[in-house]
Amino acid sequence: MASSTQHYTHGQWTSRLVFVFAATGSAVGLGNIWKFPYMAGENGGSSFILIYLACVAFIALPILSAELLIGRHGKRSPVNVFRRFHRDYGTPAVWRFAGWLGVLAGFLILSYYSVIAGWVIAYVFQAGAGAFANATADSIASNFNGLVSDPERLTLWHTFFMILTVAVLMRGIHKGIERVVKYFMPLLLALILGLIFYNFFVGDMARTMNFMFSFDFGKVTGETVLMALGQAFFSLSLGMGAMMIYGSYLPDSAPLFGTASVVAFADTLVALLAGLMIFPLLFAFGMEPAQGVGLIFKTLPLAFSQMPGGVVFGTLFFFLLLIAAWTSALSLLEPIIAWAVEHLAWSRVKASVTAGAVAWLIGLGTVFSFNLWQDIKLWDKTLFDLLDYLTSNIMLPLGGLLVVLFVGWMLPGAAVRAEAGFRSERLYRLWRVVVRWIAPAAVVLILFHLLGWEIIRQMMN
Ligand code: TRP
Repeated sequence: MASSTQHYTHGQWTSRLVFVFAATGSAVGLGNIWKFPYMAGENGGSSFILIYLACVAFIALPILSAELLIGRHGKRSPVNVFRRFHRDYGTPAVWRFAGWLGVLAGFLILSYYSVIAGWVIAYVFQAGAGAFANATADSIASNFNGLVSDPERLTLWHTFFMILTVAVLMRGIHKGIERVVKYFMPLLLALILGLIFYNFFVGDMARTMNFMFSFDFGKVTGETVLMALGQAFFSLSLGMGAMMIYGSYLPDSAPLFGTASVVAFADTLVALLAGLMIFPLLFAFGMEPAQGVGLIFKTLPLAFSQMPGGVVFGTLFFFLLLIAAWTSALSLLEPIIAWAVEHLAWSRVKASVTAGAVAWLIGLGTVFSFNLWQDIKLWDKTLFDLLDYLTSNIMLPLGGLLVVLFVGWMLPGAAVRAEAGFRSERLYRLWRVVVRWIAPAAVVLILFHLLGWEIIRQMMN
């Protein structure tokens, strides 16, 4: 180990509850509120939701606990944790590349996450200024297209969001991340519940309930299962070291599997609540839920334009989406910052500003891919599409696969057993089988399915 890490003391969350807020803050993001409703909308609603729940319980939760376990047991940043296990347990040294893979994925994801979150900031201001009041479908669509085709405005909002993220991270985990999640996660929940309450008066709850919870297996295909699995993965922030570093700050007294279950439950609850927040409005105003990525930015504002109090509720909606994205972004940069502080002995401020600047710079590629560079395509994808594809469909599943394999097959069984903190022997055995066999098999399936699908599509073109 590098000598600079020997005198290093690793941080710790103030309490288990704060960890739950921080990890839920990481998990709850654009994935829950923007992606989950449109994916459910496009994949038959209730059947997708039921399969999603099964994927979370049987595959994503075991992987989440494995990732937290590596972090808490090693108490180092995702790169150095593998060096430490190499030293302590003699696991192969090449595993540290699993840490680097995650660090790289974090940069790439944040670079475009920040641009999309920038749209959300723009929408907070637009909604607040009443831009959607009495608007038509055409004016809302052209407003959206106007925003994404303007590189200057996109850069401005992207910069704004990155500053917001770095400003928190540079204060460290106690004065930075903890403070934000402690106040904003409860606020986020309150805003979501408030909007749902409002939906009982203006929305179409009956149709929403039927759409989300009347299980109909006629519509399930293999494709649905794989989409649900991939979504569970992204939504729980798995596969890039975010949960690993957050887990490394988790106090030893907290029961690991139980705590992971709370986080998985909270994340899933918010995804379902997001459905209850969005679908009733769409149904009440005669819109269809299968609208793809434009659901939040083009369809929903139309509902806000028509409903009573739409300016207030529309503004609150985009504001809560911003909070969700913000607390997720924090976790994307934390692994690399922790590494720079621990390994290079940089100050927290220097590490945060440098990492944020690098992610900002890469993000300009995404900004331009919507306008100046929109015709530059590789394999039929713009730079933004490529980054999204490479990270969500390849790097994260690969990272998750490495994590479960490491816990299942590399770490000594006794250490894993003690760290996992199961009270029931049966549950532990079941978890062990899932971590060793079932989760890796499921992840290999998503990885190769998506790759295979893409290769077939390319061959047809
Ligand atoms: N889970 C977040 C969301 O649902 C996104 C996210 C944050 C993420 N950190 C991550 C995804 C790490 C994968 C890996 O929007």
